[in-house]
Amino acid sequence: FDFPSLFFPKEGIVTVAHRGASGYAPECTLASYRLGVRMKADYIEIDLQETKDGQLVAMHDKTVNRTTNGTGRVKNMTLAELQSLDAGSWFNDKYPIYAREEYASERVPTLREIFEAFGKNTRYMLETKDPEEYPGMEEKLWALVEEFDLKAHVAVQSFSKESLVKIRSWDKDVPLFQLLWYNRTARISQAMLTEIGGYANGIGVNYLRIDESYVHKVKASGLLIYPYTVNYQVNMENTVNWGVDGVHTDFPDRFREVIAEL
Ligand code: G3P
Ligand code: CA
Repeated sequence: FDFPSLFFPKEGIVTVAHRGASGYAPECTLASYRLGVRMKADYIEIDLQETKDGQLVAMHDKTVNRTTNGTGRVKNMTLAELQSLDAGSWFNDKYPIYAREEYASERVPTLREIFEAFGKNTRYMLETKDPEEYPGMEEKLWALVEEFDLKAHVAVQSFSKESLVKIRSWDKDVPLFQLLWYNRTARISQAMLTEIGGYANGIGVNYLRIDESYVHKVKASGLLIYPYTVNYQVNMENTVNWGVDGVHTDFPDRFREVIAEL
């Protein structure tokens, strides 16, 4: 494959604003995405869930409990019900040093609203969350990408191989990232790397469990590696020294500072 949509910034390393600039603003809201774009992240990362009436929305959890003033599952709520909730006050309560009064009026945005807001002014790292709960979510995602003519501006990541394989069957160019999570020291076999290389361009992996030799092994197999979620500059410097291709961070400005000094 030749992947014309794969993005390589001039700095050589990609900044992904994890759930937006979610260290500074309520995650997965337009406020957080706006800040991610302003901080010059290469991608804004968007977790996707689906409402009862079939709308793709930006939300990390399956329930609204943690990041809104409501309770219940996204899949059991209509978009109107979901968008009646306050998606910002929880952030003000939890992070008073970054609190802003206007965050209380943030709502859960649809993917359509996010594409409308930013268009081609950014890139989107779209994550299919819990695709087994939402059959057909990939079709909806892809239809929106086509409607907004954003194929050259998106990458897709997922913990679900099936979800990525489905998207690869429709488009041979879109950058795809297999997400992995380790609860102990990360190891990966050559067979696994070859398997992932059959449908994806790279991996996203939790930073805390990897080391330099893991990074080198992944890169030697031809895959890209974007660790998540790296929030302190000392750790950002470590990952950069290991040779990672990108970093997911809640604080894109901190990472921009680190790579500016390279
Ligand atoms: O960006 C990678 C990361 O988003 C995967 O973990 O739980 O934050 O969606 P999570
Ligand atoms: Ca995510």
